[in-house]
Amino acid sequence: MSPDRPPSPSEQPLRLYGDLADWYPLLTPPGDYVEEAASYLRLFTRHCERPPRTLLDLGSGGGHMVFHLRATLACTLVDRAPAMLAQSRRLNPDCEHVAGDLRSIRLGRTFDCVLLHDAVNYMTTRADLARAIATASAHVAPGGVALFQPDFVAETFVPGTETGGSDEGDRGLRYLEWRHQRAGDHESYVTDTAYLMRDAGGATVAHDRHLMGLFPRAVWQQQIAAAGFEARTVPFVHGPCSDVGRDVFLGLRPTRTAQA
Ligand SMILES: C[S@@+](CC[C@H](N)C(=O)[O-])C[C@H]1O[C@@H](n2cnc3c(N)ncnc32)[C@H](O)[C@@H]1O
Repeated sequence: MSPDRPPSPSEQPLRLYGDLADWYPLLTPPGDYVEEAASYLRLFTRHCERPPRTLLDLGSGGGHMVFHLRATLACTLVDRAPAMLAQSRRLNPDCEHVAGDLRSIRLGRTFDCVLLHDAVNYMTTRADLARAIATASAHVAPGGVALFQPDFVAETFVPGTETGGSDEGDRGLRYLEWRHQRAGDHESYVTDTAYLMRDAGGATVAHDRHLMGLFPRAVWQQQIAAAGFEARTVPFVHGPCSDVGRDVFLGLRPTRTAQA
């Protein structure tokens, strides 16, 4: 393998979701998710045929989004990283947590709402994207809705950097995230992320290379429809990021179609 070409994420676990998982709450604290969670809840409520009661979060990470939804919805969280599930169990002890791969897991029951947000970025081929959407489809009840939220579609991607982080007690983390496409990257991009962490013992640095998928809107819409949903695309409107021009893709399952 070329040194410039990383193994796929399933072959190379990211440190952020492994040995560094207990730093995750300092990278994006749960409080950062308030407005995004509120906008998801509005979309679920608007597009579900009944007041939504249950939610499946695929690729739920630290459970920071669910933290703001669990008062309204009975939440089930799925992630393949044991260290992230452990973080989320601490934050959301009243919620059901299941270890599994969002491309293949089948729980054998359905939910009013299925959420697949930042974890869907890790689908780096059309085949994996189709598997993830099929998982959502297998778990949406008649009258329910699936919501897909990639960071970028091919039409909106811009290379760039982001910085952030936070402190808690004697621990602090700052990160630099650098998004770019390498020569030959077609429907993917790379996010190189450097983490600088300090605690009472001193400071350390670490690096992860996140390989992310990047698909045209039309591919999203086709795949959502192919999975048996009525596909909708809506603008992503929530406080700090409302100017970013992100897309939210919805998969609706109207009861009139389900019963036909
Ligand atoms: C950025 S974190 C999600 C954070 C989450 N939105 C929250 O509210 O805390 C991305 C998560 O996707 C998970 N993930 C990536 N690929 C996955 C897969 N194929 N199956 C299950 N989980 C996956 C990672 O383990 C990681 O925990």
